[in-house]
Amino acid sequence: MEDAVAVGIEAAARKDEARALFAPLPRHYDLAAALTSFGQDPRWRRAMVRAVGAQQGQRVLDVATGTGLVAAALVRRFRCTVVGVDQSPQMLGRAEAKLREDPMLQRAVTLVRAEAERLPFAGESFDHVTFTYLLRYVEDPAATLSELTRVLKRGGTLACLEFGLPRSQPWRALWHAYTKVGLPAVLRLVSKEWAQTGAFLARSIPSFYARHPLDEQLEMWHAAGMREVRVRRMSLGAGVVMWGQKEGTGPAATAGGARAEMRDLRRGAGEPPSVGGESLPEEQDGCAEAP
Ligand SMILES: C[S@@+](CC[C@H](N)C(=O)[O-])C[C@H]1O[C@@H](n2cnc3c(N)ncnc32)[C@H](O)[C@@H]1O
Repeated sequence: MEDAVAVGIEAAARKDEARALFAPLPRHYDLAAALTSFGQDPRWRRAMVRAVGAQQGQRVLDVATGTGLVAAALVRRFRCTVVGVDQSPQMLGRAEAKLREDPMLQRAVTLVRAEAERLPFAGESFDHVTFTYLLRYVEDPAATLSELTRVLKRGGTLACLEFGLPRSQPWRALWHAYTKVGLPAVLRLVSKEWAQTGAFLARSIPSFYARHPLDEQLEMWHAAGMREVRVRRMSLGAGVVMWGQKEGTGPAATAGGARAEMRDLRRGAGEPPSVGGESLPEEQDGCAEAP
């Protein structure tokens, strides 16, 4: 019982932390996002958007839309319409200001303030759903994935981008050194708040993968009703793109199904030894292109 209470407090603190964290960040967000990822983040976001494979005129939901980077990329690439959801009024304010600069984006993107855990939309009301850097901030990633899947039409694509941890030990050690020391120093040039965000990321990313290793996340996707889930680890694993298709309406998947799919992924990529509890293969950039 005490453990459950402690976990609940920790999870609620995570959500409050997310609200407080993003309030002062919108102004320099796009620059700082690139800095936090060694300049790789725009490339990862492009790969995630490409995986969606929307058609012209389709309706896409982008959750944790932030300053609207993914929403804009979806519209530009597919000529679809996008509903961008975020819980932060400050991030949405920045997104709104950017949309106003481009009439095409202003027509195609609608911004809604809401929480990923409780989406104010009917079931199966979007052709595709995307989310970026979200699950580290929610109390219950499995429940949030189910909610994201609820609003997705059957056959639609769910796609996400998240930071990852390099698999090989030397690169992982370098990653830890950079995020603990280099990143806060670089971000201090942007602002005091961004320096704090750098320190937060150095804790938040390893803590997320300790709680939810990639293979467990894959099982969550299956339990939420997703099929053909693919994982693409980019930039030595520092960025992780995941995507799959919704099949059926309920939690039809079994953990066994997820494990079978992982075995297939390993065979396809020539399974390297697993490190730190993460056993998924690293798909080299350029492989495993989106369908
Ligand atoms: C790192 S930003 C990502 C922004 C954008 N997707 C991008 O590609 O850069 C994470 C965003 O998630 C939002 N967020 C965090 N938890 C959320 C939740 N439970 N529901 C909705 N938005 C959330 C934050 O407000 C923030 O704007």
